[in-house]
Amino acid sequence: MYDMSKTEDRESGAPAAAPRPTPYEMIGGKEKIRRIVDRFYDLIDMAPEFQRLRSMHARDLSPMRQSLSSYLGFWLGGPESWQPLKGGGCVMSLHARFLIDQDHAQQWIDAMSRAIDDEGVDPRISNAMKEAMARMCAGMISA
Ligand code: HEM
Repeated sequence: MYDMSKTEDRESGAPAAAPRPTPYEMIGGKEKIRRIVDRFYDLIDMAPEFQRLRSMHARDLSPMRQSLSSYLGFWLGGPESWQPLKGGGCVMSLHARFLIDQDHAQQWIDAMSRAIDDEGVDPRISNAMKEAMARMCAGMISA
């Protein structure tokens, strides 16, 4: 028989709510996030439709693979903190030095959506992620 003694609220005797998993836990943690980020940069590096976005990035994408993985872990409620590669500021202000237009933003959203879908993320998380990221991308447009 199910033992309620470990999960009941001691004051009311009602079953205690289980702690809600963070998006970080629901998605599958650090390794899964790294796989999504690797897929994202592989797509940007190889698929011609992302050429304009690729050309804004440094030749060596390894530092970005590390920084974006770390940022997304932090953003999704994981235990790690995020430190930008150089300088400080929030992720939005770090994009202010780039001339980002609607097409760049759309390429970013398309590549990230494909990476998320290719890695098979729970739709309850993936849809919320895509919507929040699209809002961030819209806020980064400066040209
Ligand atoms: C509007 C679409 C976006 C464009 C065109 C864009 C472009 C860029 C570029 C060119 C860099 C620097 C790359 C390099 O130095 O090689 C960068 C860095 C970065 N981007 Fe974006 N980005 C976009 C959206 C986003 C979004 C939505 C996020 C977060 C969800 C994000 C997270 C980051 C992070 C974490 C870095 C590294 C910053 C650092 O560590 O200094 N970007 N981005």
